[in-house]
Amino acid sequence: MKKLAILASGSGSNAQAIIDACKGGILKGLAEVVVIISNNPNAKVLGRSALANIACEVSDDVLSVLNKYKPDLVCLAGYMKLVGKDVLSAYKVVNIHPALLPRHGGKGMYGKFVHEAVIASGDKKSGASVHFANENYDEGNIIMQQEVPVFEGDSADMLAKRVLEAEHLLYPKAIKKLIDEGVI
Ligand code: GRF
Repeated sequence: MKKLAILASGSGSNAQAIIDACKGGILKGLAEVVVIISNNPNAKVLGRSALANIACEVSDDVLSVLNKYKPDLVCLAGYMKLVGKDVLSAYKVVNIHPALLPRHGGKGMYGKFVHEAVIASGDKKSGASVHFANENYDEGNIIMQQEVPVFEGDSADMLAKRVLEAEHLLYPKAIKKLIDEGVI
């Protein structure tokens, strides 16, 4: 069983998708979530970890927490901070971004700002990207992407909802790919 750590700052719907995939989906028997780490004591994701009986830690000292659990993979799922070099050199770290990178990524490109930028650009498709994390926001090699259409008249909220649904399928698939290919 591969051990996963999830870092999240907010709602944690991607964390939930990964937990579900480990418990009864495509990651069953392959991976388990050993800890959820948040920098935000009020994050909704912490309630999800409690429900799923998974350890949760609120800390900015991510490296120390990871060293307690020694995960094979660190999954950023709506984690609003850059991960430090110390963590990146000690662990494999992946992130999910709600657009087709390299388009619409980088500092300040999160949440509705991403979807507003996609709509303003006139792109006819958007989607989600799972990629290796490095010291910059939304860089690092892409592991897997899932496209969704952008429809005429879409609001940022409508597009966000469509992309989020794709994210929930994509993240477990990308983790499985890393396991299948022996990357973790
Ligand atoms: C997702 O859109 C993800 O791509 C981005 O942050 C959002 C997190 O949503 N990095 P949730 O907390 O998983 O619901």
